[in-house]
Amino acid sequence: MSPIARLAIRTAGRAPPHRAFGIASVNLMNPTMPSRFRAVSAFHTFPALLQQNGNGNGNGGKKNIAPGAFARTDDSITVEYPPEEQLPSSEPVEGTDRAGAHIFPTLATFSLQGKVGVVTGGARGLGLVMGQGMVISGADLAIVDLNKEEAAKQAQNIVDTFRKDHPDKKPPRVTAHYADVSDPDSVESCIAEIIAEHGKIDNLVTSAGFTENFEAVAYPIDRMRKLWGVNVDGTYLFATTIARHLMERKAKGSMVFVGSMSGAIVNVPQPQAPYNAAKAAVRHLCASLSVEWAGAGIRVNCVSPGYMLTALTQKILDDKPDLKRQWTSLIPQGRMGAPEDLMGPVTFLLSDASSYVTGADLRVDGGYTVT
Ligand SMILES: NC(=O)c1ccc[n+]([C@@H]2O[C@H](COP(=O)([O-])OP(=O)(O)OC[C@H]3O[C@@H](n4cnc5c(N)ncnc54)[C@H](O)[C@@H]3O)[C@@H](O)[C@H]2O)c1
Repeated sequence: MSPIARLAIRTAGRAPPHRAFGIASVNLMNPTMPSRFRAVSAFHTFPALLQQNGNGNGNGGKKNIAPGAFARTDDSITVEYPPEEQLPSSEPVEGTDRAGAHIFPTLATFSLQGKVGVVTGGARGLGLVMGQGMVISGADLAIVDLNKEEAAKQAQNIVDTFRKDHPDKKPPRVTAHYADVSDPDSVESCIAEIIAEHGKIDNLVTSAGFTENFEAVAYPIDRMRKLWGVNVDGTYLFATTIARHLMERKAKGSMVFVGSMSGAIVNVPQPQAPYNAAKAAVRHLCASLSVEWAGAGIRVNCVSPGYMLTALTQKILDDKPDLKRQWTSLIPQGRMGAPEDLMGPVTFLLSDASSYVTGADLRVDGGYTVT
């Protein structure tokens, strides 16, 4: 019997009482998913945290925390990355209190005026907001995504929002481009297209990436390769191709890799070993390239977000308020991050304000990884 078949039988048959506490059903599972994974598709929150005392009926219903429970993963949590048509569209950030118009003076070195930035995975979520931050800081922008239609819609949204906030200023040039970041040919032709349209590239933010939750012994190898292909190969391919362009121009540049706090710690309770390893690779790739390219004037830094409240995570958490409570209880600042919490850190790292910072990993996680 194959290990997967053994696992399916073991998993399908298990329903110990402590797992039954706080079960929230998940509706994110793709109905086309192989049945062996549907067998583990119930999303359990606060899994083994609470155990009945003794046999569960001798202590007036009092519950104890199982030793080690808050620091463990729960193998029964399974979340597959949803198909494209289920992913919500993002809204641009509006309002001077959140990101908008320049009404107060700030350091000139924070400006990205005259720069051309590229953001991968920029059609949605964190990439879109970081890209908007670059535009508000003065850059022209190329949005790269698998979903070119959404990228084009958001490019227009960014320009429209800029015009509304800055009616007296020349609007930035924001373009949309298709690439599968894990495919070298696709990356090569995308970057050539951007250079043809913008004339050059100065800055890169690599936000294309995704996570999934499967216990490691059940993680399908093809899905794991896809995850590493997008998160790791995609970062490497974009960074090296743009570095070659900068070196040919003998121009300085600055890149920000989007890692995750998961590259430094192990999240609980959801199991996601391949994602954690991929983000650790992104962090060390950043450190390694920063050394290799320091002499060429190319800086490479990493931002490692904690739990960020995007439309996608909101969709997941709407089904699982227990999970949100558990995550938030582990964040010293007591809240999940908003996407615009990344605008400042990314702009800082791309701009001359950070000209002596390279190879750094800036955690933007509300203090999660400090405890
Ligand atoms: N959301 C969080 O809480 C969080 C926390 C830490 C790190 N991150 C990281 O931030 C990055 C962005 O996450 P998000 O939450 O905004 O995700 P998201 O799913 O909202 O956006 C990701 C974007 O990347 C694009 N994309 C996916 N595969 C691609 C490919 N092969 N080629 C080109 N584009 C591709 C998608 O179409 C999408 O527009 C990811 O690298 C993620 O791992 C997210």
